[in-house]
This record gives sequence, C-alpha cells and structure tokens, in this order.
Amino acid sequence: MAKATKSAPPAFKIEFAKSPAKGADCGIIAVFADKKLSESAKLTDDLLGGIVAHQLKHSPAFKAGAGHTLAIALPPRAPYTRLIVLGLGEKSSFSAQSAETAGGRLYGALKTYGSKAAVLLNAAELDAPKFKEASPEVSLALGARLGTYEFEHYKTAKKDEIVPAPRSLTFLSDDGKALTKDFKAQEDLAMSVFLARNLVNEPPNRLYPESFAKVIEQTLKPLGVKVEVIKSDQLKKMGMGCMIAVGQASENPPCLVTMSWPGKASKGKKQKPLGLVGKGITFDTGGLSLKPYEGMLDMKCDMAGAAAVVGAMRTIALRKSPVPVVATVALAENSVSDEAVRPSDIITSYSGKTVEVLNTDAEGRLVLADALTYIQRKHDPRLILDLATLTGAIMIALGLDYCGVFANDDAVWKDLETAAKTAGEKVWRMPLDEAFRREMDSPFADIKNVGNGRYGGSSLGAAFLSEFVDKGRPWAHLDIAGVAIHKGGKPTNPKTFATGWGVRILDQFVRGHE
Ligand code: BES
Ligand code: MN
Ligand code: ZN
Repeated sequence: MAKATKSAPPAFKIEFAKSPAKGADCGIIAVFADKKLSESAKLTDDLLGGIVAHQLKHSPAFKAGAGHTLAIALPPRAPYTRLIVLGLGEKSSFSAQSAETAGGRLYGALKTYGSKAAVLLNAAELDAPKFKEASPEVSLALGARLGTYEFEHYKTAKKDEIVPAPRSLTFLSDDGKALTKDFKAQEDLAMSVFLARNLVNEPPNRLYPESFAKVIEQTLKPLGVKVEVIKSDQLKKMGMGCMIAVGQASENPPCLVTMSWPGKASKGKKQKPLGLVGKGITFDTGGLSLKPYEGMLDMKCDMAGAAAVVGAMRTIALRKSPVPVVATVALAENSVSDEAVRPSDIITSYSGKTVEVLNTDAEGRLVLADALTYIQRKHDPRLILDLATLTGAIMIALGLDYCGVFANDDAVWKDLETAAKTAGEKVWRMPLDEAFRREMDSPFADIKNVGNGRYGGSSLGAAFLSEFVDKGRPWAHLDIAGVAIHKGGKPTNPKTFATGWGVRILDQFVRGHE
C-alpha cells in the first residue's frame, strides 16, 4: 500500500533542451492536419533524403489527427533508428486539450516501437493561434506524462524485462529554462492526479479508512498541511450518527479526516477558507440492501471524491496557494454483518436531524451529511464544493463524460464552469428543487435517505445533501459517479479504471480565487 504513495522521480524523463540527449534513437516531427512540414522539419527531411515527404505523400490513410502517428524506419547510417510523424489535428482547433491527447498517444507510440530516447524536433515552431493556456510544448509534455500512468505494483512479474519502457523525451527548444519551469508545475499537478488514481485503484483490502487516513497524513503533512483524524470512538462521542451507522458493519472502523491549508493572510485580514468535502466509501457493498454481483464490481471506486480532494490538496500545498483551503473526507466501508444498519433504522446525524434509513445503499449522502455539518461548524468555509460518486442515476442522465453539478449559488456554478474549461473536465448543471426535497420527507423522521422511486435519483441525492448545508452558504455538489472511472483507456490514461477526475477542476477553481 505504501508503495502507491511513494513519489519516486518518474522513470520517464521529459526535458526541454537545445540539443537531444546522447543516444537519441527516435526523431519526432509534428504536423497539423494539412501535413505541411515546418521549416526545421524540412531541413531534417532534406538531410534524410526526403524520406518524410515521400512517406507522407504515399500514406493517404495518415490524416494527422491529434495523436495519430506515422512511423518511418530509417536506414542504418541515419541519425535515428526511427522517425515518428506526430499528428496534431486541425491547426485552427489546436488547443491544450488536443495537445495533451497528442502527447499521450505519442508516449503510447514510443512504447509500441520500443524507442528509448526520443526527441521532438520541431515543437518550438508550432504556430498555434488559438493556444491560450501554457505553450503547446508544455501541453504535449503534460499529455505524455499523464499517458505514462500505470498501476502495476501488485504484479510480481516485470514485463519491462521483455520490452524496456521508453526512457526520455526531449523537446528541442531555445527556451528550455522557461519551459522547464512551466512544465515542473504541470508535472506536480500530474503527480497529484496520479495520487488520486492510485488511491482509487488500490484494492479495498489494502485501502480502508484507517490506511487511507495514514496515506493522507504521510502525503500532506510534509507539505505543511495540517491533518486531523477523528477516529470511530470519538465520532461516536461527538454524535456523528450517520458516519457510525454506515461504518458499523465493518471490521474497519470509519474515520473523518480534515486537512487544512493555511494560505497567506492578506494585510492582516483573516480570510475564510474555501471548503472541500469528499465521499470516501472505501468499498460499497450496498450494506443489507446488498448490491448484486455486477453492481458491486466497481465499488472500490466509491472513495473517488475523497481521492480527488486529497489530490487537489497536494497540488494546492505544493504551489503554496495564497488561499486558505479546508477539506474534509468521510471515510467508511459500507459492509454487511449482523451489526449493520437496517432499512427502517432511524439514526441521529451530527446536525441533530434524524434520518430514516430506508436503503442502506444510499450511504454516501449519510456520511456526507455529517462531513458537511462538521466542516461548517468547525471551519465556517466561505463556500463548499463536495465531490461524490453518489448515484448511478447520474450516468443515466449524463453518460460517462460529464459530471453533474448541483449548485445553490450561480456564482459558484459559473466559477466551476470556467475552471472546467481550463481543466479539461466537463461539467453540466443539474436541478436542485424543493420538489425533490419534499420527496425525501419521512413519516417518522426529519428526512429519509431515498425518494419514492427511480426518477430523478441524482437530484434526490442532492436534495438530501442540501438539508445539511446552512442557509445562505454557497455550495455545489459534484456527482462524479460517471467520470471517476473508465474502462476504455484514454490517451492520457492508457490504463483502465481510475481517471483522477476532479483534481484538475478543483485546482483551477482554487486558482480562480487566488
Ligand atoms: N456508490 C453508489 C453510486 C455509484 C453507482 C457510483 C455506480 C459509481 C458507479 C451509491 O452509494 C449508490 O449505491 N447509490 C444508489 C442510490 C439509491 C439506493 C438511491 C444507486 O445509485 O443506485
Ligand atoms: Mn451505495
Ligand atoms: Zn456508494
């Protein structure tokens, strides 16, 4: 488990330099969809006797879309073993996102061809009119870095011994120093995304509330983040009835972890912190309302909200954000035993409100209720964002690319929408409405934890949470059940499962408040 958190320097080096690393075996030339060679690419091609132009001319299937590659084997005395033409897509739509895709696919190609040391020859001359953020080189490099992700520390056979992994990628540039500095910041962010992915990918027998809390302490304390862990006994004493109810069937007791980044007090004024909350169900069996086989398969991902929040805190602390941020993650395992909470039990939340638990599989909203009350009472945040794999219904509504956002405040929604664009993580606003809240009325308690049927399931979950947010406190709930994991493999995350969704949008959201 500890291995997942060790931040050893990445084995694949990405550099910006005037000349390639010694022994470079793969040259890369980038082209837009028009397949025109840039000035320096033409010079390279001349030296190679025109092989690149010749191959391009006779490869009609190569359309140079973002991340498409055309590999050309070079003759024995050429400077490289192989040359890869990297497509960037249409010049007019070339953006940070398409550059990341291209970078991710490029790393995949280097792996496929067994290239050890690659050099991108003409990145410095890419004319990218619509490029607003960073520079194309840095976005390509970030995509390549994200694409190196793997989660293989439980494999005992090393496949590297058969095909050695690529060792380096050098971007030729006269501006090496500045690009290196820009990229360093992006690489820190990528490592925080990897942290979130690792936490989600860890199996639930290794990552349970206590071990999760340990990782948080080990990762964030050295960066100057204060970490407070409230253990099960204390939760009971404090009256966190929802946290206890969800965790009581498991041998692994629940805990509530709060991370505080102080920021920098401006002109002696103490600023209220931004508040983050994450759902951290380390495994969701459904409890006595047990999930069927298929439904339980992916449920180690049910702490992805907490993982994103922890990843975001890492990146915020690493760049020493001036903004104070406080984050609470509710960690519990929703399990089954004779001590499990029953459908029909009435429990008392930390807020004092009573909850009739009619479906023990609607457990995320329960632990979030106590976490929301805690962060408000203890830290009085000026706004709250909560991230949670809350409902399967959000996938029915929005599919697998959009996160559903439920906001009680237009400004918070707008800021999220802006952050989403820069982060490349998509959001869609969903309705919060009194009608949903009324459906959660219980005949016996202050509220019940499910509605009356399947319709509008995500809005019902959000309505439940809204009951535990103080009047007038800006808040948005992000239902990430659809985006936290994917099974297909993407260029910037070739391995299946965890996406690390949320680290980047939270990072951008906080930047927007700096
Ligand atoms: N963790 C699940 C939601 C989920 C489903 C996340 C699929 C990721 C993929 C959550 O705790 C849950 O079980 N929700 C129920 C709510 C229902 C009982 C009201 C659901 O979605 O069915
Ligand atoms: Mn559940
Ligand atoms: Zn759950």
